Amino acid sequence: MSEDGELIRLDDINFCYPGRAPLFTGLSLRVCEGDRLGLVGANGSGKTTLFRILVGLQRPQNGKISAFGRLVRTAADYAELRRRIGFLFQDSEDQLFCPTVREDVAFGPLNLGRSTEEVDQIVTQTLAELGLAELATRVSYELSGGEKRQVALATALAMQPAVLLLDEPATGLDPRSRRDVIERLARIGRTQVIASHDMEFVRATCQRVVVLDGGGIIGDGATDDVLGDDELMLRHGLEVPHSLVAEARAPTTDHHHGAGPSHGHGHRITHGQQQHEPT
Ligand SMILES: Nc1ncnc2c1ncn2[C@@H]1O[C@H](COP(=O)(O)OP(=O)(O)OP(=O)(O)O)[C@@H](O)[C@H]1O
Ligand SMILES: [Mg+2]
Repeated sequence: MSEDGELIRLDDINFCYPGRAPLFTGLSLRVCEGDRLGLVGANGSGKTTLFRILVGLQRPQNGKISAFGRLVRTAADYAELRRRIGFLFQDSEDQLFCPTVREDVAFGPLNLGRSTEEVDQIVTQTLAELGLAELATRVSYELSGGEKRQVALATALAMQPAVLLLDEPATGLDPRSRRDVIERLARIGRTQVIASHDMEFVRATCQRVVVLDGGGIIGDGATDDVLGDDELMLRHGLEVPHSLVAEARAPTTDHHHGAGPSHGHGHRITHGQQQHEPT
């Protein structure tokens, strides 16, 4: 990690799927320790691809990726990076491949070289904290969509990574499970990047929001500044969350969110390819 707490840095990334128009042109982004960063953007704007680039599942044609203070270039660099970054895939089916839930959740920590006793404890604790203890012996592929989503999240959390990349964590969750996940993420307190179309979820979990569109980052700032910018949101296929609209109508309400004050990092909203700078 660099002195100012920078954990991940993308510099001038160009990316194009074979035979397709360029998806990212000159995209730059910094993620610092403790950031709770919401990644929003219309369908196809590149949120999932950005995560896949970050963990080395896609390689950019140009640009630099640094993580934990080191340039990431070789397959070995990416393997090392994946030990420290937990990734929740958008599609739970991509995450669950063991016969039972317990084995799926144990897979990551076992791969990290933890002892069987340690892993047993981590799995039991992780499942219990997400209210999933009763699913431990179930066959993963027989779970409901929402159950799979929660177990997939458990597999990422069980690795106890320095950084969590969560692609649509709230999809398919009932209101109580969704609230539990919001509370769980707040308690973890680790660096988190959350891609979501659920703006209320982003508002409840993130202090900073980045908007992706047209090949790059077109907005970056404190959560309420970005999500409350109706012109920016509408222009890029998004919508101001209802809670913010309601608060704007009743400005005296002292509303407080789980993720803490939106201005905690001193971000200002920026339009274009700028990055946030720490204060
Ligand atoms: N393997 C692939 N090959 C070719 N094109 C792809 C591939 N994966 C994604 N794309 C295209 O790249 C663009 C970005 O896709 P991506 O999945 O990153 O978007 P997203 O922002 O995550 O969308 P969503 O909100 O629907 O999850 C889309 O136009 C998509 O069709
Ligand atoms: Mg996606």
